[in-house]
Amino acid sequence: MQEYLWILWQLLAVASACERNFPDDDFLAQWPTSKPYLTLRAEPFPPSLSPNEKVLSDSFDSAEIGTWLSYYTHGDHIAGRNKSMAQTTADAWNSNGVPSSLVEYEVYLNYPVSASLSLNYANGSKYNAQLFEDVVKEDETTKYENTVPAFHGYSANGNVSAEYVYVGLGHKDDFARLVSLSVDLKGKIALAKYGGPFRGIKVKNAQANGMSGVVIFTDPGSDGPQAKKGDKAYPDGPARHPSSLQRGSVAYISNYIGDPTTPGYPSKPGFARTSGTEVLPKIPSLPISYRDAIPLLRALDGYGTAGSVMRRDGWTGGLNVTYSTGPAPGITISMSNLMKDATTPIWNVIGSINGTNADETIIIGNHRDAWVIGGAGDPNSGTAMLIEVTKAFGVLMKTGWKPKRNIIIASWDAEEYALIGSTEWVEEYAPWLSGTAISYLNVDIAVSGPLPGADATPELRGVAQDVMKKVIYGTQTLYDAWYKLYQFRPEDSGFGNLGAGSDYAPFLQLGIGALHFGMSGGSTDPVYHYHSNYDSYHWMTKFCDPNFAIHTTVAQYITLLAYHLADDVILPLDLDAFGRNLGYWARDVTGETINYGGDVGSVQRQVNLTDLINAYKHFQGVATTFTKTIKASGFTDDATRVKLANQKLRDFQRVFVSKEGLKMRPFYKNALYAPNRDDGYKAQTFPGTIEGLQDKNITQARDWNLFLIKAMNAASDILTFQ
Ligand SMILES: *[C@@H]1O[C@H](CO)[C@@H](O)[C@H](O)[C@H]1NC(C)=O
Ligand SMILES: *[C@@H]1O[C@H](CO)[C@@H](O)[C@H](O)[C@H]1NC(C)=O
Ligand SMILES: *[C@@H]1O[C@H](CO)[C@@H](O)[C@H](O)[C@H]1NC(C)=O
Ligand SMILES: *[C@@H]1O[C@H](CO)[C@@H](O)[C@H](O)[C@H]1NC(C)=O
Ligand SMILES: *[C@@H]1O[C@H](CO)[C@@H](O)[C@H](O)[C@H]1NC(C)=O
Ligand SMILES: *[C@@H]1O[C@H](CO)[C@@H](O)[C@H](O)[C@H]1NC(C)=O
Ligand SMILES: *[C@@H]1O[C@H](CO)[C@@H](O)[C@H](O)[C@H]1NC(C)=O
Ligand SMILES: [Zn+2]
Repeated sequence: MQEYLWILWQLLAVASACERNFPDDDFLAQWPTSKPYLTLRAEPFPPSLSPNEKVLSDSFDSAEIGTWLSYYTHGDHIAGRNKSMAQTTADAWNSNGVPSSLVEYEVYLNYPVSASLSLNYANGSKYNAQLFEDVVKEDETTKYENTVPAFHGYSANGNVSAEYVYVGLGHKDDFARLVSLSVDLKGKIALAKYGGPFRGIKVKNAQANGMSGVVIFTDPGSDGPQAKKGDKAYPDGPARHPSSLQRGSVAYISNYIGDPTTPGYPSKPGFARTSGTEVLPKIPSLPISYRDAIPLLRALDGYGTAGSVMRRDGWTGGLNVTYSTGPAPGITISMSNLMKDATTPIWNVIGSINGTNADETIIIGNHRDAWVIGGAGDPNSGTAMLIEVTKAFGVLMKTGWKPKRNIIIASWDAEEYALIGSTEWVEEYAPWLSGTAISYLNVDIAVSGPLPGADATPELRGVAQDVMKKVIYGTQTLYDAWYKLYQFRPEDSGFGNLGAGSDYAPFLQLGIGALHFGMSGGSTDPVYHYHSNYDSYHWMTKFCDPNFAIHTTVAQYITLLAYHLADDVILPLDLDAFGRNLGYWARDVTGETINYGGDVGSVQRQVNLTDLINAYKHFQGVATTFTKTIKASGFTDDATRVKLANQKLRDFQRVFVSKEGLKMRPFYKNALYAPNRDDGYKAQTFPGTIEGLQDKNITQARDWNLFLIKAMNAASDILTFQ
């Protein structure tokens, strides 16, 4: 589900570079100095590997990944619709030597039945939107009879006919701007552009402003310069196909993930259900292509306020229209959307390798369901890769190896609707996971281009980079490619924080550290048709990764990373990085990087920053001592102390999980990170404190600040050797 956009990375890089003035030097001295742990190119090349690393790396076969990708991308596998694909996956993992079986849940989903959308001009003539993609002769899955039409998962049923307003990206602040311009929104249909907030949040905002329906279009202006260079569109060239459209869920994922009707507990048959309606939209929505968006936008030209004076990020795009707000009197959209509700089985595939330490577990996961017959990038590049990951571990086990820690491998179903398969499984096994889980490694879109990208909790960032140095990527290592992209990002070394874009979210909310990795396209690479029929095997093999070399690199990388987490004597987790990031996030609370509409001093008076700073500095001190202790000579000879150190590393993050969760979204319990409530994809660090300050609820900000201080001190206590 998560869409990595190179352009977004660039914007983030620029945004973090423009800093506001610090109040004074003493204030500045309170925060960690950035420690660029990106060093130069990995040496030697090719990397030297240990015997086990070599067995794992050598077990990969790119042709086999291709064969599996072809299997996964030639049949309907929308959530809950393909049990045989789940069984085939379990069978393959079993025959690779990883004991695997299906884990079933019964969840609420809805499926498309019929939809229509027309533009009605004042003179009585009509333009009908297509609501499916063109058949492409050489792309066989676009010709299937059961190709999936345009729809939004969890969209409401409805028939609406109304004037419409262009609402930009549909961010809360876009609506605020429209309201300030006195644009009449009541009862109108919202026309919104993809990009920025998660699509469910666009719908939520439109609904909150009294609108009656939402149409979301893909704008080629967000694709980078391909089309402008005059490149041909898919299938003849790298630019976007004009009929491509983006399906996807409109659940309110920044409020809630998992089956909306079983909040906080697993969806097992016979368990009680709620209506779920508070986290699902009540107004209908549909996605359309840019080809169909042009007449809709053009009909608004000259009405309301032109895009050029809206002063909102991302308001205008790459189409030859003025992106005016409208409405245009007498010009209406008629839309109808009919969905079928279903309470239906879904199937996770769970493979497990028992480690010698029963109370330590590493989990690797990727979802299997896709919105379209293809899904070559999202998610089946990752699914095909997982087959090879089980094979690699199977091959190593045949040499007599057994990991120190349990390894769970998961193929999730129904991720696309609201991270459902993973969330229900985490809810079912929460006590066991809280007791044993060390890290969760997530892959979603493993491959949609050549550039590595990752989000991770800080303790995993060091090992994540070290292992990149062991993986060959063309004529360099994966690390060299990483370094080229992120060398100017010393503070976070290129890693983002985790929001709720994929299956790591439920783990994070149990206080389990996670990493999310994928390779995506830059501004000069072929356009990835996200959640479109053209995310197909044909696109992948013609434009993205013809020999599956990128797939193989990702598979080797995830395998070696999991191997080190599962088998190193002492867990390779970086506490210093964790402490440093606590400092960066504490700095955000001050109002230095977030504007609360007040001066930094007033924020300092509202929450006890002194104690917060003391707590993170104390953690840093403890982390330094911990690292020194485990690196001391002879430490690893003492099995009891090693065991204790690993338990401390496993447990220290759990204390950041609160009982009651965030206000209005109690599912999000981790005081360190939640999805940004106005964005959905992006992360918000220290969300309780920061949202309290944003809402001018000082009680809330103080409560969460106190919680964080106590949690940091509790984590420090856990990490202290007696
Ligand atoms: C399930 O997926 C497989 C592999 O893509 C495909 O062959 C099969 O037709 C699909 N089953 C259904 C019921 O669509
Ligand atoms: C009605 O108006 C639209 C938009 O201006 C125009 O494209 C169309 O040709 C008109 N139809 C008739 C029948 O005049
Ligand atoms: C909704 O609209 C469609 C197409 O305009 C129409 O066929 C259908 O009867 C309408 N349904 C309802 C419930 O009004
Ligand atoms: C853009 O649209 C305007 C009027 O709608 C037209 O005159 C102009 O030729 C168009 N430009 C391009 C590059 O298509
Ligand atoms: C793995 O461990 C579990 C729990 O201890 C046990 O039930 C299971 O039989 C073991 N599996 C294998 C293959 O040894
Ligand atoms: C912050 O807390 C510390 C100790 O808990 C206390 O000494 C100090 O006065 C507090 N500062 C403010 C501004 O409340
Ligand atoms: C402010 O936050 C507190 C604690 O979270 C909560 O009890 C209270 O209702 C909030 N006040 C408002 C006005 O939202
Ligand atoms: Zn996905």
